[in-house]
Amino acid sequence: MHKDVQEILFTEEQLKARVAQLAEQINRDYEGKELMLISVLRGSFIFMADLVRQITVPCKVDFMAVSSYGKGTVSSGQVQITKDLSEDITGQHLLVVEDILDSGNTLSYLLEILWARRPASIRLCTLLDKPERRVKPVKLDYAGFSIPDAFVVGYGLDYDEHYRNLPYIGVLRPSVYGGEE
Ligand code: PRP
Repeated sequence: MHKDVQEILFTEEQLKARVAQLAEQINRDYEGKELMLISVLRGSFIFMADLVRQITVPCKVDFMAVSSYGKGTVSSGQVQITKDLSEDITGQHLLVVEDILDSGNTLSYLLEILWARRPASIRLCTLLDKPERRVKPVKLDYAGFSIPDAFVVGYGLDYDEHYRNLPYIGVLRPSVYGGEE
C-alpha cells in the first residue's frame, strides 16, 4: 500500500466486480439503443476505460474536462469547462460518467449545458457517491459505491494531481493535506 494511504476502501477486485455489475445494468437498460458515453476528465478516465470495455450495446465515447477543485480538497462551487466535447450530441442518448459525486456542483452545471444541446436523453453514472456532502440535488441513475466523507484517491482520483495511478481506492492520510491524523 502507498505510504500516503491510510486505508484501502476498495481493492482492484472489488472495483472490477462492481464495474461489471454497473455495465450489465447499463447494457440491459440501453438494449436496442445506441449510447454516447461522456467521460468527465480527468478523474473518470480509468473508470470509463474499464466500464466501456464491458459495454455491449453500440456506443461512442467523448470527453469533457471541467475543473472545480483546484488544489484544495473542498469544491469551490466554481465550475469551468476546460475541454469541450468533440461530438455533436443532438438526439443522442448520453451517459455521463464520473468518478465521484460530492457537492453535486459539477454535475448539475454539466447537466444544464448538455440539455441545452438537445440530446435524446441523459443518464448519470458515478463510481463513488458521497451523499452527505450534497449541496445541489442530483438524480443518479447508476452508482458504484456510497462512501463516507473521507478524502479518497486512486483509480483515477487525485490529490494535487497525484495518486491517480493507484489501482485501488484508498483514504488519503490527512497529514498529506495538512489535516489531523
Ligand atoms: C472531481 C470529480 C467531479 C467533481 C465532483 O473532479 O471528478 O468532477 O470533483 O465534485 P462535486 O460534486 O463537488 O462537483 P476534480 O475537480 O477533482 O477534477 P479531476 O476530475 O480532474 O480530478
